[in-house]
Amino acid sequence: MSNFTVWKTADPASAGKISAEIIAKTVIAKPDCLLGLATGSTPVPIYKELVAQHKKSNLDFSKVRTVNLDEYVGLSAEHPQSYHHFMMSNFFDHINIDLQNTRIPDGMAADLSAFCDQYEQQITNWGGIDLQLLGIGLNGHIGFNEPASVFTRRTHLTDLTESTRKANQRFFNSLDEVPRQAITMGIGTIMTARKILLVCTGIKKAEILERTFFGPIDPMVPASVLQFHQNVTVVADEAALKTILQKHPEFSA
Ligand code: F6R
Repeated sequence: MSNFTVWKTADPASAGKISAEIIAKTVIAKPDCLLGLATGSTPVPIYKELVAQHKKSNLDFSKVRTVNLDEYVGLSAEHPQSYHHFMMSNFFDHINIDLQNTRIPDGMAADLSAFCDQYEQQITNWGGIDLQLLGIGLNGHIGFNEPASVFTRRTHLTDLTESTRKANQRFFNSLDEVPRQAITMGIGTIMTARKILLVCTGIKKAEILERTFFGPIDPMVPASVLQFHQNVTVVADEAALKTILQKHPEFSA
């Protein structure tokens, strides 16, 4: 864990504030930076805080470019559970970003495989990701790179595991409605980001966070590959750090 910078916070709201600070610093230092963005419950307080900073302190997103990690296959951009809809309602609708500078995988693309290649090309054309924001799944996935995915893949079509579908069921009316496939940036894509910001909150994530940073580097725990990355900042609340602090009393955040 010594190669990682770790911020311990009291709760998810403070994790959101610190993470937003880190993202804001990147935007201020490089106004046309390329941010890799995530969806899910974890980043909601981060986007809320970034919107507040835009409104209060004129944090300027006019030149910022963004690429999202993933999107469900079969959901249109307007679907209330699509990640397109999430990004608009939680973030893009409230800041001065130019939507031409944002990319989210298209889960309705006619040729999904060609789309994935174009997505990779876009990231390369934009000069690579400066900062990649990540949440982590209960099974250790990052993006939708599920356990047993190989580490080297780029943006691709993937089947969602039952564990992930069940975890995300809370956003849908029933498990049947949860899509079975997604487009995701690959681990290979994520690892090219110049900086990684992994945010993890809640007691449910305590065990997987410990396995991610203290267990073997193993495609069965996709996030464990981050042990190979040179520039990882972890922002975690006390609950999420519980297993690490119990098993590794020498560790201090
Ligand atoms: C979302 C994503 C996923 C989530 C993960 C955690 O774009 O890529 O890997 O980060 O499933 O989700 P939450 O934050 O809802 O626990």
